[in-house]
Amino acid sequence: MELINHTYSIQGLNVTELCQEFGTPLYVYDASKIINQLKSLKNAFSETDVKIKYAAKALTNISVLKLVKQQGAGVDVVSIQEAQLALGAGFSPDEIMFTPNCVDFEEIIAGVELGLNINLDNLSVLEKFGKKYGNTVPCCVRLNPHIMAGGNYKISTGHSNSKFGISVYQLPEIMQLATRYQIVINGLHIHTGSEITETDVFLKMAEILFGIARDFPALTFIDFGGGFKVAYKAGDLVTNVYDLGLKLGKAFKEFYQSYGRKLELWIEPGKYLVSEAGYLFVKTNVVKSTPSVTFAGVNSGLNHLIRPMMYEAYHEIINVSNPTGTQKVYTVVGNICETDTLGADRKLNEVREGDILAIKNAGAYGYSMSSNYNSRLRPAEVLIYKGEAKLIRKRDTFDDLLRGQVVIDL
Ligand code: LLP
Repeated sequence: MELINHTYSIQGLNVTELCQEFGTPLYVYDASKIINQLKSLKNAFSETDVKIKYAAKALTNISVLKLVKQQGAGVDVVSIQEAQLALGAGFSPDEIMFTPNCVDFEEIIAGVELGLNINLDNLSVLEKFGKKYGNTVPCCVRLNPHIMAGGNYKISTGHSNSKFGISVYQLPEIMQLATRYQIVINGLHIHTGSEITETDVFLKMAEILFGIARDFPALTFIDFGGGFKVAYKAGDLVTNVYDLGLKLGKAFKEFYQSYGRKLELWIEPGKYLVSEAGYLFVKTNVVKSTPSVTFAGVNSGLNHLIRPMMYEAYHEIINVSNPTGTQKVYTVVGNICETDTLGADRKLNEVREGDILAIKNAGAYGYSMSSNYNSRLRPAEVLIYKGEAKLIRKRDTFDDLLRGQVVIDL
């Protein structure tokens, strides 16, 4: 989003006009940002045979998936429904990595039947898989490296108390099952968490994976997961993907030369690709001053963006309809019957009732984690593509709240 002559715009489109056209609350995604982020990752790993598997859970809209597909990336999914969305967007099954956790084995069978790459993270599931498929269907194994990393405990997945992955200390059991059922393990995977800024964490993962990989002769890829951090506010630490690409690429090359065969390096970025591309535009319903706080109460809340409440995440907020107003301090809250503070004590250009605020970094885990809590409707989604605003999801209607409800006679 750019501010030129006191007007905020995305790809030349005035954002307050977009809000008039499509209404608020409104999710808007800038396709050019997603494309640029993909390019920067490809450049960062240019020396390596990297395969980017976009972590679809960050933003699952089919049009966004199509855009990612058009740019040559694959996709990482965690449910059979995400897989179906990805197939609907045009991904071929072999471009899809399916990494479910704690699902019914039936869902894994469904994944095999769709022809997806299967990633297993539990010994009992690996055993069922071996019994059923023997050496006829390969699978990848997700390991838990016992590394604590990530921006927040809730989004850390590689530590010893995490439910994800098979502990690296259970490697002998993995080997036993693989031998007993002749399982073809074609990939090893680790995803340690979200918002990892240190290259060293990835290099540590690499050390663990490369140490183990020699025991798996049928590998075709090693998957380092996602978790690359982007800035949510000025001065934030971010993952230096160029440093990562260089160092991880070099270590990978050294490894596969000693492994004896070239392997693919997979990564699964979610936030890195879509976080900064997205904005949640909301309208200020009320300005409410108390003796201690001035609230800007907006027509959205934790039902549309849960990250501030769930992870104490910071999302920058801008008053896009009064860019020259005198700055004052506001606490921006939603209209939900919960404490749904979107941003506390923020310096904003004067907020008047009716003003449009933009909540930044709303592309990742915004709409995809939204709900109908308080029986409120979810926003519409718009993708700005080649200078044009395209509606990619309609706003909910009241019928959406009724859909599936069965009213019984009492
Ligand atoms: N691969 C796997 C197996 C994952 O579980 C995840 C995210 C990713 C890749 C992508 O991670 P990313 O690059 O987006 O950090 N809702 C939380 C984040 C949860 C991440 C879950 N797994 C948030 O809003 O911060």
